[in-house]
This record gives sequence, C-alpha cells and structure tokens, in this order.
Amino acid sequence: MAEKTLVGIVMGSTSDWDVMKEAAQVCKDFGISFEARALSAHRTPTEVEEWVADMEARGCQAFIAGAGGAAHLAGVVASKTILPMFAVPIPSKYLKGLDSLLATVQMPKGIPVPTLAIGEAGAGNAGLAVVAMLALHDAGLKAKLVAFRAAQAEKVRNAKLPELN
Ligand code: RP5
Repeated sequence: MAEKTLVGIVMGSTSDWDVMKEAAQVCKDFGISFEARALSAHRTPTEVEEWVADMEARGCQAFIAGAGGAAHLAGVVASKTILPMFAVPIPSKYLKGLDSLLATVQMPKGIPVPTLAIGEAGAGNAGLAVVAMLALHDAGLKAKLVAFRAAQAEKVRNAKLPELN
C-alpha cells in the first residue's frame, strides 16, 4: 500500500510560499509527510475541490491553508472536508494582512476555520498545531514535540541581553 500523505498544505499563490514554507518546514522537521500546493479558491476552484478529495483518499489527517486579501481559500477547503484544518492569513501589499486576517477568521458559524497569526509566525504555529494534533495518537511524535518545547525554553533561559556601553 502507498505511503499516506498526512498533511495537505495549500496556498492561494506561489507568492505565498515564503510565508507558508514555515508550515512545511515544521512538518519536515518532525518527519510528517505532507504535500504543498499553490491552488486558488477563485482562480482554480475546481482544482481545490479535486485536490482536497485526492488528499483525503491518500490518508490526509489535516489541512493547512493560507491566502491573502479577500482570503476565502481556507473557508473553501474547510467546506470540502470534515478533517481538521488550520488557516494562515498572508500579509498583503496594501493592508498588510489585516484584510486576510479578517476575511479568514470571521467565518460564519458551522464551518470552523481555526486561524493563526498573520505571516510566518502563523504558518509555523499552524505546523505545530498539526503536530500537536497528530501527537495525540503517536507517542514518538509526542516525545519530539516535548523535546522541541524543552529546547525552545532552554534557548530563552540562556539568552543574554546586550551589554550597556
Ligand atoms: C491571494 O492573492 C493569494 O493567496 C495571494 O496572497 C494574493 C496575491 O496573489 P498573486 O497575485 O501574487 O498571485 O489569492
């Protein structure tokens, strides 16, 4: 049987990759199989629907979707699956991502779109949220996440502020 692809990462444009690669990097670092695609809810709506169905057939357990502007991609993905999904508002040219944040986070009741912070922090945290979810049923992954948190805390403890002149 073919290997499962556990996480589907989708973004509205290749121009979103610089932000969304943070989510992909987390998956890679934790050894989680993923597929990342640039597909648009308004430019290629049919392909979005087909890709979500294909990912489900390949054993996907969660989606991460990022888009900018009138960002409806995450809502569309969420409407096509009952799998958990996390959304990342992409910084936009004129409104700096506030438009993306509001368009994504203000989803009407019934189709949840859990939304992370605008930009790289949100993309990285979306990856970590998926890790936490998958770790519920994977002891090895849970141990990796605990170690990641411990290493992160140790880095803060050891941080030195610059000396005064
Ligand atoms: C959105 O429009 C994309 O998610 C992207 O953030 C934004 C700009 O897309 P491009 O014009 O760079 O393709 O659909």
